[in-house]
Amino acid sequence: MSEAAAFFAPVPWVEFPARIAVLLSGRGSNFEALAAACRDGRLPAEIVVAISDRPGAAGLEHARARGIHAVGIPRSDFPGQAEHEAALEAALSDSRAELVCLAGYMRVLSPTFCARRPLRILNIHPSLLPSFTGLEAQQQALEWGVRTTGATVHFVDAGLDSGPIVDQVVVCVEEGDDTESLSARILEAEHALYVRSLARLLKGGWQLAGRRILYPAGDPKSLF
Ligand code: GRF
Repeated sequence: MSEAAAFFAPVPWVEFPARIAVLLSGRGSNFEALAAACRDGRLPAEIVVAISDRPGAAGLEHARARGIHAVGIPRSDFPGQAEHEAALEAALSDSRAELVCLAGYMRVLSPTFCARRPLRILNIHPSLLPSFTGLEAQQQALEWGVRTTGATVHFVDAGLDSGPIVDQVVVCVEEGDDTESLSARILEAEHALYVRSLARLLKGGWQLAGRRILYPAGDPKSLF
């Protein structure tokens, strides 16, 4: 690892509460976990907008119920990905979001979109990356026969579930598990993991060394 590959990120979000945008496509349970943590002070952050490519997403309803600005930006309203992402950009810039959290957002963002926000887009994925990228990670884990799987929060780069890992949690596969039962246990672990990951990042003092995040001394260890 070269010196040049490392940089120091003391407090990357200049003002608190940090302004967070959540992008989602579905039921929005991770959105709910983040919103609750912002509301009760576990996170020094505010969700300023929830955006979905599916206007009927339950997650948007959760946002409205919490009084959070919620916007549907359907992909079908635009001729191509570039135009769709330009609309996303506009909504993000209107909200003055500093950080984007993907929470079940079912589209792969373009390299151009990702490059505009280096270390400013997070995702949660229901496996221990780099295993089982892409769709149906829980099913992939069951089919592979792993005894432990889990969830990962990572920064988003131009690849598929490939950016630097912020934190992970382990979930054991139990005898008799099917996709539904395993997914339910992973999802519960995801909620805590996403909140914990954001809290660690927002505290600042971490460095990115190559693709590895180094946390300051005294930072709580990852949990199992
Ligand atoms: C979660 O399993 C997340 O890891 C994955 O999509 C699912 C979203 O669930 N990326 P929810 O909409 O947050 O309930």
